Order: sequence, then structure tokens, then C-alpha cells
Amino acid sequence: MALKLDETLLAKFVNPDELDSMQAAVRASFGKIKDRSGAGSDFLGWFDLPENYDKEEFARIKKAAQKIQKTCDILIVIGIGGSYLGARAAIEFCKSPLYNSLKKDTPDIYYAGNNISSQAVEELLSICEGKDVCLNVISKSGTTTEPAVAFRIFRDMLIRKYGPDCIRDRVFITTDARKGALKNYADSVGCETFVVPDNCGGRYSVLTAVGLLPIAVAGISIDEMMEGARAARLCYSSCELAENDALKYAAYRNILRCKGKKVEILVDYEPAFTMVNEWWKQLYGESEGKDSKGLFPASVVCTTDLHSMGQYMQEGERIIFETILNLKDCGSVVSVPNDEENIDGLNFLTGKSLSYINSKAFKGAALAHADGNVPVMVVDVDTRSAYDFGWLVYFFELACGVSGYLLGVNPFNQPGVEAYKKNMFALLGKPGYEEAQAALEARLR
Ligand code: PA5
Repeated sequence: MALKLDETLLAKFVNPDELDSMQAAVRASFGKIKDRSGAGSDFLGWFDLPENYDKEEFARIKKAAQKIQKTCDILIVIGIGGSYLGARAAIEFCKSPLYNSLKKDTPDIYYAGNNISSQAVEELLSICEGKDVCLNVISKSGTTTEPAVAFRIFRDMLIRKYGPDCIRDRVFITTDARKGALKNYADSVGCETFVVPDNCGGRYSVLTAVGLLPIAVAGISIDEMMEGARAARLCYSSCELAENDALKYAAYRNILRCKGKKVEILVDYEPAFTMVNEWWKQLYGESEGKDSKGLFPASVVCTTDLHSMGQYMQEGERIIFETILNLKDCGSVVSVPNDEENIDGLNFLTGKSLSYINSKAFKGAALAHADGNVPVMVVDVDTRSAYDFGWLVYFFELACGVSGYLLGVNPFNQPGVEAYKKNMFALLGKPGYEEAQAALEARLR
């Protein structure tokens, strides 16, 4: 098993009867996923994706990745939310948060279109000077403002650099299979397209072409990743809480929520997990935060954040619980050198590996927080392999669907994301929004 739930530190907060009392509701929630009878059931493509994916497209992804690796120094992944977070999480998890600075024979990968920062674009344009560049534009709708604007800018850059005919070879588009602005554009210029499946929402799409193309470009085995997800699917097929850690995780979150723990903090001790945190926050925040319900998903990377958020976690308002992702094998052997003068008094650590020290920090902080009345769950993660990443994705996706149904929401829609867009379009004077524009401007005066 690549992931293992360790409930030891929860014993003080949740008794076994409370968990048992969730069995019927959990069975019903998982049943809704299995028989596709719950709200949002049109978006359950992720559930059997590890088995049931487009093998022809999968082969094309690998080919396109090789072509991109040969053609460019830089791949820019243009997308927002579910359209880039999974790929970035995978690349930083399996390779490094410093991926671009590593010695490697794969292109640097940068991300654009996930904000509207002029400075961020300017900086990336300047990084691209003198480099060969390809784009992977990822947008289901093809009209999301942030990636659409970024695509205009980086497409202009490509045309200035290589001339208009370069688009066919340097732009790879991941979008709807049949319709939409990007699909039409891709067909008209003849660039290669990949599909955002109709039955997978953005935040559940990392194991589709959305995530797999950039991941493959980074030189990560997408075969192994799918294999890990497939193994997880098999492992988490039982409806029995005692046999299924993903269901248990969903049940514990809901028990803790009912006890007034409104904030779940995903905690990890490796910077390589930082973007996994971001991916997880979107997955759970967008899936559960609706109808005035839902845990607020937060995250910290330790020990860094023990020196910023540690005080609150230890002694602040007791509305939080922690889910710690504990990497079992970091595969690195750096150790502390001796210092003859022992100026920092740390010679008792001489020869100890950093991973050993990190593991003591994790255990010490987890015990301290539990003593400070913070429920703590631990999810052990074996390694940072592609296989384990695929497994982790499936674990959290399944738990999220079940957890959302336990909460009584549709875990597969995101109606609230539209509100800011309407106001932004109105304030920008988009045709058709005149009335809203006047009303908003009056409020801002
Ligand atoms: O999870 C989601 O559905 C969102 O985060 C979308 O992925 C995001 O808004 C981007 O949408 P699109 O792919 O249509 O550009």
C-alpha cells in the first residue's frame, strides 16, 4: 500500500463507536458513487479512469511529450485551477519544487494564465528570450479569462519569434473534445489537441490529458502513475470502513466537523508537497464549500510553517484538525556535519540524517498539537514515486466524493466560482453587462 492512514493520535478525539456509527452513511455515500445515483453523477469519470481511459490518446500524449522535449527549452503550461494544479503538484512531488533548476534533459516548465498579474507575465516573457518555447494551453471552456489572456500574449510571442506557421508545431491544446473556442481555434490552425473529458471536472482531471501531458514532458512515467491509481482503486473498493482508508478519512473529517472542527489543515514536512497542498485545497474547497457548508481547507509546510503558523496551531481557537502527509522514505541521505567548536550546541546531531531529524520534528509537533487539543490524523506516504502520486490522487478524489455526499452537497459542481467573474466582466464593461456595471460602480463610489 502506497498510503496508510494512521489514526493513533485521533483516539482521544473520536471513539470507535462514533466511527462505527458512520458505517451506514458511508456505505450509502460510496454507493451513490458506485451506482452513479448521487448529485453530479455526470462528473464521475475520475472514478474508473485508472482502468477506463482513452489508450489511443494516452499513447499520443507520450509522443507529444517526446516532441515537446525535443523542440523546446521551455514549456509554458497555460491554465487555471484544475487545469494546472494537478500537473504542477505531480511535477514538484515526483521531481522537485526546484525542477527548473535541476540538471536534466527535459524542458523547464513554467505556468501562466493562473492569475492576471502583469509582472508575472512580463517576467516569464523575459525568461523566454533566447529560448525555444512550446505552449500547452489547457481550458475546458476555452474562454476562461486568465488562460485566454495569457494565450493571446504567449501566442503573439511565438509568432514574433518563429512566424505564424509555428503555432501548429509549438502549441498543444487540451480542451473539450468537440466544441468551444479553443477547439475551434485548434482545428482551424491544425495544432494537436487533447481532451478534457466531459465527465471529469477540472479538479478531478489530473490523470487525464490535462495533467498527463505536462507530467510526461517533465520525464515522469505516466504509465506508473496510472498503475498507482489503478492499484488504489482496487485497494479502496470495499464499502466497509474497516477495510477502506479512503472511506475512513472521509468519515473522520465529517465526525470532526460535527464536533466544531471547521478547518482542516493539510500538513507536510517536505517542500515537494507544497503544490500537492494547493491541488488538495482546490479539490476539497471547491467540492465541499457550498450551501453554507464545508470544512475550510488550509495547509502548512513544516517545519517552515511551525515558525509562523505553529503558535496558532498549538494555542489558537480550537476549530482546527490536522491531516499530516508523512513521507516515509525521502530517498536522501544528507546528514549533519560535526563542528569542532560546537558554536550552536548541536553536536548531539552530528552524523544524524536530516530525514531522521525531520521525522522527530513531525512526531514532536504532532504530539504537541494533539496535547493542545488538535485532532491529528496521519497519512503515511511511501515515496515520491509516480506510482505513489497516482495512488495519492485516487485516495483523495474518492474520499472527497464520499465526504461531499456525507456533508449533503454535490461534490462535483462549483456554481460559486461564477460570481466574481460576473462582477469582473461588468466592471470591465463586457457587452451585455451594462446594468450590472452601473450598479457595481455605484456601490464602489
Ligand atoms: O475545477 C474546476 O472546474 C475549475 O478549477 C476549472 O478547472 C478552472 O476554472 C478552469 O476552467 P477551464 O478549464 O474551463 O478554463
